[in-house]
Amino acid sequence: MKKKFKIGVIPGDGIGRDVIKAAQILLDTVNDTADDFSMDFLKMDTGDAAVAKYGHPFPKETIDGIEASDAVLFGAAGNPHTQDVLMGFRLGFDLYANVRPIKSLPGTKALHPNADFIVVRENTEGLYCGVGYIDRDHHVNLRIFTTKAMERILHFCFELAGKRERKKVTFTHKAHVLTYTDEPMRVIFYEIAREYPDIEAEDMTIDACAMQIVMHPERFDIVFAENANGDILSDVGAGVIGGMGFAYSGNIGDSKAVFEPVHGTAPKYADKNVVNPSAAILAARMMLDWLGETGIAGKIGEALTDVLEEGKVRTYDLGGNASTTDFAEAVSGRFRQI
Ligand code: IPM
Ligand code: MN
Repeated sequence: MKKKFKIGVIPGDGIGRDVIKAAQILLDTVNDTADDFSMDFLKMDTGDAAVAKYGHPFPKETIDGIEASDAVLFGAAGNPHTQDVLMGFRLGFDLYANVRPIKSLPGTKALHPNADFIVVRENTEGLYCGVGYIDRDHHVNLRIFTTKAMERILHFCFELAGKRERKKVTFTHKAHVLTYTDEPMRVIFYEIAREYPDIEAEDMTIDACAMQIVMHPERFDIVFAENANGDILSDVGAGVIGGMGFAYSGNIGDSKAVFEPVHGTAPKYADKNVVNPSAAILAARMMLDWLGETGIAGKIGEALTDVLEEGKVRTYDLGGNASTTDFAEAVSGRFRQI
């Protein structure tokens, strides 16, 4: 019997609409061709569309829909809804690992041809915990870490490294100054590392790591960073592989996951059908991988790489004038041939 997946699809705001439409072209092709599974799509709203329909940017209808889905593909959240929507699913569903692969692809403006590492960003704590106060001239955002959350994300990093060829985890920090948080977390990191003798463990200050990523990305495999540092570091990585057009992510918890391109809403390009949908297509690939459909996921990656390498269908950021949907159709066409 064919497996059936319920896939939540949330375009969100801005170019989220363009790129999710493009990813959907590919997912429909997968549905047409896959022998052992099929997907039912549950379209949901966040942001402006949700405010118009339900009066809230992250409404109960969407929360229930995510709850009912096996996995979710999400486009983008823009101002003023960013916090409600992104924190809504990251914190609301305890999606504690923000997994952001950084891989050079052919036919792009990657600064190095062989970057292939993953930034794992802790997704629920640190400066993003939303705790703070203003008292006269004191403006305070607390940077809170719990031992429990740090232990689970570090186990996640080592488990992920174990599935990869290089098997290395780099713990980033500012331990010499952040003595209440980063230094004890660095100690926990090496304690957990002892449970994984086959995996290389190293630590590096976050500033040094940012520089090394720009100069020698090939030396990294899994790079762990706490929430705010991981946000910055993953954009540094995106720059190394030619920009946000190829930056994608999975917000992953123990049983739920939301996959999203990292580029945001780019309002100036919204609904123009011109942006590069590669990141959304890669997010869809990552989603199928997470669902266990590794064969199909691999084929999507191959089809995208082939289209980029061939360079006939290029969106404006790659020096061409193909539309978002042209590009998605080219990837779907190639997918059918593999
Ligand atoms: C990201 C974004 C968000 C973040 C913003 C929009 C709140 O930059 O997903 O990387 O900082 O997490
Ligand atoms: Mn960011």
